[in-house]
Amino acid sequence: MIYYRNKKTFIEGVSLEEIARSHATPFYIYSQNKIEDTFEKLESTLSAEIFYAVKANSNQAIIKLMASLGAGADVVSIGELERAIMAGVNPKKIIFEGIGKTNEDISFALSKSIRLINVESIDELQRINSIAIKQNKIVDIGIRLNPNIDGQTIDKISTGKKTDKFGIDTEKLRDIFQILEVSKNVNLIGISCHIGSQIFNINIFTEIFKKMKINAQLFIDNGYLIKHVDLGGGLGVTYQQNKEVLKLELVKSEMDKFFKNVEYQLSFEPGRYLVANAGILVTSVITIKNNGGINFLIIDAGMHSLIRPALYKAHHDIEPVDKSNSELTSYTVAGPICESSDIFDKNISLPKQKVGNIIIIKDTGAYGKVMASNYNSRGLPIEILVNNDIFCKIYQPLTAQEFIRQDTIPEWLD
Ligand code: LLP
Repeated sequence: MIYYRNKKTFIEGVSLEEIARSHATPFYIYSQNKIEDTFEKLESTLSAEIFYAVKANSNQAIIKLMASLGAGADVVSIGELERAIMAGVNPKKIIFEGIGKTNEDISFALSKSIRLINVESIDELQRINSIAIKQNKIVDIGIRLNPNIDGQTIDKISTGKKTDKFGIDTEKLRDIFQILEVSKNVNLIGISCHIGSQIFNINIFTEIFKKMKINAQLFIDNGYLIKHVDLGGGLGVTYQQNKEVLKLELVKSEMDKFFKNVEYQLSFEPGRYLVANAGILVTSVITIKNNGGINFLIIDAGMHSLIRPALYKAHHDIEPVDKSNSELTSYTVAGPICESSDIFDKNISLPKQKVGNIIIIKDTGAYGKVMASNYNSRGLPIEILVNNDIFCKIYQPLTAQEFIRQDTIPEWLD
């Protein structure tokens, strides 16, 4: 996706220097070809329905691209549902998830006639039924199970252990069956799970598939017509060159061990896998200074543009656009935010840098811009989509002056 020609950096057929000359850094760039290739490989290898987890990158252009490739959408809020519909996703290919659905969320989802709502608690099941009665509708639902599996991922992105807040404890299924019995306006058609992000260990997938197969059968044995079994997202992506890559073929062969000749449709709801490696964050060097023997390279992207390193100690490879200087120097790359956690990486070796140089932070297509903030009253990054040798700005943030005007000063302080 990124390559070097005559010592310059290109993303698809577009030179990064060229884009950086006409757009203020920091900005995100996504490669359409990379997204297309990844989607096609995923769908064809797993032969399952794919619901793109919009939370990973919810730009309208990205959702539209996914829809054009045949993806459905996994959404967790009214905002994400609106985005998916506005981007042209067929409502029948949208599933609504989320641990804390309000009555407003539920009513909105009902009004859009989506594929199904995945229920995460007993109380939510009862509220969906009551709202459906009021709207005189029968609503299709799925049950998101908590299969009590440790995804062996970092704690902050684990969702499938018994002690995590997500899903319904499989030991409570008897209670669910009883409530379903009297809830005449909900129609149970599926089960789902999601046990966390960044899963690489094939044994974890085996455990997911095994438990979902057993649970699907349990529902079927209790008289429910299960049409959908959603195996979650969490497919691991690599953030470092030469690191372990998830072998989709292995995932598929484990699927086949459990789900040969089943009557229901299998699906996944990946976010990161589809977009992480298709995006980069482009930033400029603001200043270089040495404090206590540490060479700080201060760039204009910070934890306000990409929070993953500060929040999860996540690693992203960092590279300069211009690699012509062969003299290497060790740098601690930090953002401009007034927090000591605003550091992207420590003591990395880069060609000697100077102020104004362009630096790229790689694999930032997922959970990058969507988690950006206006902290320190700094602006959000622009987003750009590249398609072969053309590119288009797909997000233009408000200027600092514009977003400051969103505050209101009460009369009594005037
Ligand atoms: N389905 C559900 C119910 C989820 O909660 C998630 C992610 C996904 C699907 C998609 O998971 P993926 O395939 O992207 O791993 N901000 C964190 C990631 C949080 C993931 C939250 N849930 C990060 O930057 O690593």
